[in-house]
Amino acid sequence: MQHLLSVDDMKENYIFDLWSKAIDQKDNYSNALKNKILTNLFYEPSTRTSSSFYSAMVRQGGSVIPINNVKFSSAIKGESLEDTVMTMATMSDCIVLRHPVTGSVAKAANVSKVPIINAGDGEGEHPTQTLLDGFTIFYNNNEKIDNLRITMIGDLRNGRTVKSLVKLLSRYSGNHFNFVSPKELSFPKESLPKNAFETTKINNVISETDVLYVTRVQTERGSDHKYSLSLEQLNLLPKKSIVMHPLPRVSEIPREFDNDPRAKYFDQMRYGLWCRMVLLKDIIA
Ligand code: NCD
Repeated sequence: MQHLLSVDDMKENYIFDLWSKAIDQKDNYSNALKNKILTNLFYEPSTRTSSSFYSAMVRQGGSVIPINNVKFSSAIKGESLEDTVMTMATMSDCIVLRHPVTGSVAKAANVSKVPIINAGDGEGEHPTQTLLDGFTIFYNNNEKIDNLRITMIGDLRNGRTVKSLVKLLSRYSGNHFNFVSPKELSFPKESLPKNAFETTKINNVISETDVLYVTRVQTERGSDHKYSLSLEQLNLLPKKSIVMHPLPRVSEIPREFDNDPRAKYFDQMRYGLWCRMVLLKDIIA
């Protein structure tokens, strides 16, 4: 049984192999997961991640037990996460878990008889978002993810997608990171990669950026800060750069930028479906 709790659980070769299968298969329907059942267990709001797993399962002939609103499940009666996970493990072949407490996916994996996939644990990690984020770079950069100038902006302290993506991109040579945030939302010091430059001003680095990764301020985790990139600032980006965002967006990127060829945040979701289809096949079939 393979749990997927962290980017550390995926070796380099595994990821490249998954991406090449994703390119071949895209979102084509199949029966590869016929008679298999997935539980989507979400203790935090989700639109994209839960629907993406749902679609990835059903497109391959499988079914899903969606527990998206824990208000209506036994958690509200006081049931522990462990008991809920053991329950769902008796009824399904895999559990996709999102939970507000960092480390809860590891607790779940300790008691689960079926694989657990981390769909976001508090401010910890979000490894399947990294699969699709990495894929987006790979797909738009001649199948390479090294020697890039990556600028990450927003809530770098509490956002989990940045932490997982930095783990992946730090594996490859020549990647340089610019971290742009107010001091109180800065990337955790203990995890700072070697080639990192920290600044509070995007204008210091935007014109020297290959990948701009924009994130939302995590108000639900206590962050308080509002920012918006202007069209003027975004137009300082090199012509060949790409702009990513895990979404949801609040005010970070103006809608007028959505049709710019550099904007890849809606493509990311499509790629996420391809990647999750391959992942589920690997883990469950
Ligand atoms: C992200 C998350 O939940 O961490 N959303 C997602 O899964 N695409 C980003 C966020 O909520 O800001």
